[in-house]
Amino acid sequence: MLGTLKDSYGRQIRDLRVSVTDRCNFRCFYCLPHGEPPMAPKEQMLTFEEIERAVEIFASLGVNKIRLTGGEPMLRRDIEKLVAKIKNIEGVEDLALTTNGYFLSERAQNLKDAGLDRITISLDSLRPETFKRMTGTDVLDRVLEGIYAAKRAGLAPIKVNSVIVRGHNDDEIVEMARFAREHNLAMRFIEFMPLDSGHDWSRAMVVSGREIRERINECFPLVAKAVERGSETASRFRFADGARGEIGIIASVTEPFCGACSRIRLTADGQIRTCLFSKVEHSLRDVMRSDASRDEIISYIHGVVWRKEKGHNIGAPTFIQPQRTMSFIGG
Ligand code: 5AD
Ligand code: SF4
Repeated sequence: MLGTLKDSYGRQIRDLRVSVTDRCNFRCFYCLPHGEPPMAPKEQMLTFEEIERAVEIFASLGVNKIRLTGGEPMLRRDIEKLVAKIKNIEGVEDLALTTNGYFLSERAQNLKDAGLDRITISLDSLRPETFKRMTGTDVLDRVLEGIYAAKRAGLAPIKVNSVIVRGHNDDEIVEMARFAREHNLAMRFIEFMPLDSGHDWSRAMVVSGREIRERINECFPLVAKAVERGSETASRFRFADGARGEIGIIASVTEPFCGACSRIRLTADGQIRTCLFSKVEHSLRDVMRSDASRDEIISYIHGVVWRKEKGHNIGAPTFIQPQRTMSFIGG
């Protein structure tokens, strides 16, 4: 019998995001502008066996969606092997991966063959100069090749994440919507959240989901998709003229969706984070490496999840930015 994992607000946890490394070969300014902090000793990182065991336990508690993230998950050698192992775990219905796309042109097919169901690729700009300014790397063409390779490999529906930042890429919103139509992609426009290691975030840099939607709607009228939103982060739209592709808007700052959140996160060093903005972490790694029994591990997880935060308060004057950036937490 599968168990259920609930928090004290009645939210059931069904979605686990596993960061497999905190290393990244990009320097996105909204995440890791100055590079990673010194590397933690290797023994602090979860091994593939430990990740597999953790996922198996979560799956036995009703978690059915797994997303592998980073840092850049494809920097972890043989990530395909981990994909294959996780895909085989009973209860895992949907296995996805979030990547910057750098390694995809050569390896998209391997990921598909290993059993990956879906992929999300970050793409903040279609202009080489802006891409370089935002990600710290001059590899737009390579990432585009990665997107096309993922399509050829059948990793559809392919999601493309774009963090919109005022003064950087907000003049490209419509072009990116056109790109979604031309290539039949699910574009995800994401509000800039205060999770950058440079602490440069300011409210003025946030382009609201509403503004994004209005700008697209002026050129390409949108129709809300008739799907149940559930715990999804994005509100989803299709093009009124019947064009392919999809627009999703993730308005984490201006329209928080914490009330329906079904997500928890596991960092590369084995800490459970019950919210992107958690101020505390819980070392599943230490519990798993102790002589705790499976039942003890499960009751530890239940206790941690029970204390999941109600939500974030980005809008409040008392808001404190978490220490860890997205590269540790995983998207
Ligand atoms: N605000 C919003 N989204 C972010 N991401 C990383 N940092 C931020 C931030 N500060 C997104 C990236 C990536 C995903 C893992 O998280 O777009 O696709
Ligand atoms: Fe790397 Fe992703 Fe962070 Fe960009 S957002 S620096 S690709 S971890």
